[in-house]
Amino acid sequence: MLTENNPKQKSFIADLTYRPRRNRKSESIRQLVQEHRLHPSDFVVPLFVIEGSDCTQEISSMPGVYRYTIDCLTKQIDHLMELGIRAVDLFTVVPSERKTADGAEALRRNNLLHQSLQTIKKAFPELCVMVDVALDPYTNHGHDGIVDQNGNILNDETLVILMTMSLLASEYGADVIAPSDMMDGRVAYIRQALDQNGFTDVSICSYAAKYASAFYGPFRDALESAPKFGDKKTYQMNPGNILEALRESSLDEAEGADMLLIKPGLSYLDVLTKVKEQTELPVGIYHVSGEYSMVMAAAEKGWIDADKVFEETLLSMKRAGADFIFTYAAERIAQTLCTLLPKSRY
Ligand code: PBG
Repeated sequence: MLTENNPKQKSFIADLTYRPRRNRKSESIRQLVQEHRLHPSDFVVPLFVIEGSDCTQEISSMPGVYRYTIDCLTKQIDHLMELGIRAVDLFTVVPSERKTADGAEALRRNNLLHQSLQTIKKAFPELCVMVDVALDPYTNHGHDGIVDQNGNILNDETLVILMTMSLLASEYGADVIAPSDMMDGRVAYIRQALDQNGFTDVSICSYAAKYASAFYGPFRDALESAPKFGDKKTYQMNPGNILEALRESSLDEAEGADMLLIKPGLSYLDVLTKVKEQTELPVGIYHVSGEYSMVMAAAEKGWIDADKVFEETLLSMKRAGADFIFTYAAERIAQTLCTLLPKSRY
């Protein structure tokens, strides 16, 4: 009953001294008290490079994401930089006739990756160019390492190749090596080789906790790199584990990583937060292909607003502790951020 003498009613009125809604009453106040924000310089844009010239191909399972020949890639990067984006991650598409069991194309001097690096660093010296280091785009079986007759992925043999890939990429101008293979010991191995060869300034962003995920499907379409047999569960992590992610991150840190990466994104925000709590290194997250494509597919059906969902998703990653985000939505979100902020603010 609503009477003055009803004690329950009194305490209810007393609670209304506190009205959190006051801090949400206008857009300007909401902006003022906003705890986390997206900025174009948070993003690392994964870019797919193809051989040839004057060609862009849309990836059918990733609407709005393209493979570029080097000349077109340069134009795209120019556009991304106009939007305030400062970092890219390169993936090369290797024609199937050049894929072999040992991934030898990865070590061929002046291959497509090296040509891309050289051109991009010359045109945009201030851009942070990362390179994904793993064998899967180069092998005919689609695994990230060397495979023996029984289908086992050989850790130590693979390290030698990853190390050589990293040295070559550094020679051609890479700023950051991003090993995505999940072999044991690769960060120490690569770090030592870089240091011994005068590349002390080249950084390592290690995929510290990379899970064996079904969300990588569209990416494997983009590179035609799906494994031809088995799966990646002996090197990528079990989605049921988080302590293992902490251990992997500690090891990579001890081995000399400069930045850590968690992958995929949205389903692993708890991992990001926990890793961020245990390290002083910058920690990023990879909003992967499947996460991007699901949103685009639902948006094409008119079920959700892609830009709003991406913004909310990427913000959740910042809130969970991400210092930087690899995302295919970078361009469109940077575009929406640009309309909010005058260019002089970047
Ligand atoms: C290669 C690599 C993969 C991704 C990034 N680097 C695929 C895989 O491990 O199978 C996935 C990226 C994405 O899905 O967006 N090792």
